[in-house]
Amino acid sequence: MGKSRWLTLVTCLCLFAFSDGRELKAWHKSKLPEYNHTLATILVEYSSAVYLSDLTELFTWTCDRCDGLTKGFEIMELVVDVEHCLQAFVGVAEDPHAIIIAFRGTNEHSLQNWIADLYWKQHEINYPGMDDVMVHRGFYTAYHNTTIRPAILDAVERAKKFYGDVHIIVTGHSMGGAMAAICALDLTVNQHEKNVQVMTFGQPRIGNSAFASLYFKQVPNTIRVTHDHDIVPHLPPYYSYLPQKTYRHFPREVWLYNIGFGTLIYSAEKICDGSGEDPDCSRSVSGNSISDHLEYYGVRMESDEPMSCKIVMDGHVLNLGIRDSRGNILLSRDPATPFLKMSTRV
Ligand SMILES: *[C@@H]1O[C@H](CO)[C@@H](O)[C@H](O)[C@H]1NC(C)=O
Ligand SMILES: *[C@@H]1O[C@H](CO)[C@@H](O)[C@H](O)[C@H]1NC(C)=O
Repeated sequence: MGKSRWLTLVTCLCLFAFSDGRELKAWHKSKLPEYNHTLATILVEYSSAVYLSDLTELFTWTCDRCDGLTKGFEIMELVVDVEHCLQAFVGVAEDPHAIIIAFRGTNEHSLQNWIADLYWKQHEINYPGMDDVMVHRGFYTAYHNTTIRPAILDAVERAKKFYGDVHIIVTGHSMGGAMAAICALDLTVNQHEKNVQVMTFGQPRIGNSAFASLYFKQVPNTIRVTHDHDIVPHLPPYYSYLPQKTYRHFPREVWLYNIGFGTLIYSAEKICDGSGEDPDCSRSVSGNSISDHLEYYGVRMESDEPMSCKIVMDGHVLNLGIRDSRGNILLSRDPATPFLKMSTRV
């Protein structure tokens, strides 16, 4: 993208960030979810690991990003939609005791181009069966119209068969956060799951006000973490003077920011209000940073092979998974089965 276009974009965002007042009110009296910092530092590690391109290390949970607070995770499904450059996994963790679903963010073209597209080109579609509910077409189809959804739903079903009715946590960074929210809504509305929790990092806006309202009603246990000047949560733009048409975030935002000067910088966390668009959180600053987008809680949120859809996998693991006719990869196992005797679904 040309430098001048980039500058225009950043300038516009600065203007919008400061352009409106505090007229926002929470639409609902529903109880807002509690923010749990420890849980956030665990989930951010899943959202980071799902970016990795070495499928063998991911599937055996031996990657370098799999060694911290997520140690011992029982992965059950790793799905790569090669055609659309998407990746996600499902597994079961001990703490928090839950089925964890994680989605990778965009990895296809340069991040700058993806961000520019979020600003300049939006295409919305109706959320099925809801007349006034509009949702970003790209995010919706990435989950609903690819290999991802059937693989996730199948793995959730297998996990529940094996572990009983454990609750479900969906997470992801950037576009992966948008897909996490769309997945959680699908699980609640279409699969009648009752206890779905969501935590996203640096997530863009997904749909209009009616979408935000529907989402919050269905999946109230959602925390949307934003980091300082991260540009992505500012996109697609929010226009307070077009309340029916504008893209709008759902609650509840938690804003990570830095205070202090020079060498004395502290990180702080602000738990935001129930509007989804708290003017005292991320919207109080200009969204002009990509580096703030790529780090949450000190964890790196990008691929180890930037700007590519490359996958790395040894033949041994490939033989244990399946590749569909479009080259998409599904690696599945049941926790009862030791790694070397993984079942292959055909
Ligand atoms: C916060 O999350 C951690 C990790 O799952 C859990 O151990 C802890 O009990 C939670 N704290 C509260 C107050 O729920
Ligand atoms: C989903 O994919 C099918 C087949 O590729 C296509 O016909 C349909 O228009 C797509 N739906 C959306 C909403 O893009």
